[in-house]
Amino acid sequence: MHTETLISEGVFYIGASDRRISLFENAFPLENGMSYNGYLFLDEKTAVLDTVDESCSRLYFANIEHLLNGRPLDYLIVNHMEPDHAACIGALLLRHPEVTIVLNAMAKKFLLNYFPSLGNAKFLLVKEGDHLSIGTHNFRFVMAPMVHWPEVMFTFEATEGILFSADAFGTFGALAGNVFATDRDFDAAHLSEMRRYYANIVGKFGEQVNAVMKKVAALDLKMIAPLHGPIYRSHFDKLISAYKTWASYEPEEAEAVMIAYASVYGNTADAATYLATKLAEKGVDNIAMYDVSKTDCSYLIAESFRVKTIVLAAPTYNGGVFVKMEDFLHGFVNHKIRNRNIAFIENGSWASTAKASMLKILEGSNLTYLEPSLSFASTVKEQQLAKLDEIADAIVYSLKPAQE
Ligand code: FEO
Repeated sequence: MHTETLISEGVFYIGASDRRISLFENAFPLENGMSYNGYLFLDEKTAVLDTVDESCSRLYFANIEHLLNGRPLDYLIVNHMEPDHAACIGALLLRHPEVTIVLNAMAKKFLLNYFPSLGNAKFLLVKEGDHLSIGTHNFRFVMAPMVHWPEVMFTFEATEGILFSADAFGTFGALAGNVFATDRDFDAAHLSEMRRYYANIVGKFGEQVNAVMKKVAALDLKMIAPLHGPIYRSHFDKLISAYKTWASYEPEEAEAVMIAYASVYGNTADAATYLATKLAEKGVDNIAMYDVSKTDCSYLIAESFRVKTIVLAAPTYNGGVFVKMEDFLHGFVNHKIRNRNIAFIENGSWASTAKASMLKILEGSNLTYLEPSLSFASTVKEQQLAKLDEIADAIVYSLKPAQE
C-alpha cells in the first residue's frame, strides 16, 4: 500500500499523518493529529528530503520504494534533525546504504548522536549558498538556525520554485487527502494553527526568524513545502508577513483584546465577564476570553502573539497568584512576548497578592501597564463596578491609535 502525491514536475509528497497522537512533542494538545511531510525527486539522480516520525514510517517507506521502483536512492537531504523528521534515517540507511546524506556540519553532529552506527555513511556537507544538481532540478541550501533548532536549514529548488522550509510555516493538524492548502477560509483553515505552532515551537527565537525571512523574501517562490501541515501555492506575502510580525513581537491584530482569567469559585470569572460586557458595549468587537485552567497554555501563548491588549484576572493562591495563571505567565515570559498592553484584576479573599505576583513574573518584559486596576475581596461590590468601567475605558483608549 502506498499513497504519494505528485506536487510538481518530478516531485512527490511522500509523508503521512498520525491521527492517534494527542500531544505534539508530548506537550502540545492536538485536536486532529499531525502530519509529517517528506518529499522525493525523480530526476537523473533521485533525492529524498527528510524522513518522518516513526509513527508514519510504514507509509513513508512504501511510498519511497514504489516511486524508486528499483532505482537507487542517490541523496537524502536532511533539513532538520529533530526526531519528528529524522527518526527514520537509520531505517532508510538500512534499506538504501548507497545513499549520500546531504546536511550541514552541525546536523551531522546531531545525526551521529542519534545514530552512532552511521559514522561510515556517505556524507556531503553543505553550507549557506551551496548548490546540488540532480539533473533538471537544482537545490540551493539556505541556513535557518533556530527555526527551530540551531542546525535547521531550508532547501530551495530553483526549477520548480519550491522552498522546503523545515518547521517554518508548519501547522498542527493532520492532512486529509489534499496536501495543498485550501483558499477557502484561509485564515481559519491554516493561519490559526500555524500561529499556535509558530508561537509555541519557534516563538522564542524571533530575531533569528526575522533574519531568515529576509532570505526567504528574496526567493522566486512558487511553492512553500513545510515539514508539517499543507503545502502552499499562494498567499506567500501573507505567510511571510505573519512570520515577520510574530518574529518582531508586534501584535498581529492591534484592535484585539484577550481576557485571560483564573477563577476558583467563579467570582473572578464574574469580574472578567462584566469587563468583557463593558468592552463590547463600548464598541470593542475583537474580544477573546479564556479560563486559564481550562484552556491549554499553548492557545494562550498563541493568542498573546495575536492580540495587542491582555487583561489578566486572577485570585491570590498560596500567598502568590493562582497556579494556572502563574504557569501561563511563565510561558509568556519564556516566549519573550512584549509590546503589549496589560490590565489587571485581582481577587484577594484573605490577602491581595495576585497583581504583585503577576508583575514580578512579568518584570523585565517590555509591556505597558494600563491604569487603573481592580483589587477586590471575594466578590466585586456594587460600588466597585465603576472601577471596571474605568478599566474598560483605559483599554478602549489604548486601542484608539489602531482604530484611527
Ligand atoms: Fe517538526 Fe523542530 O521539528
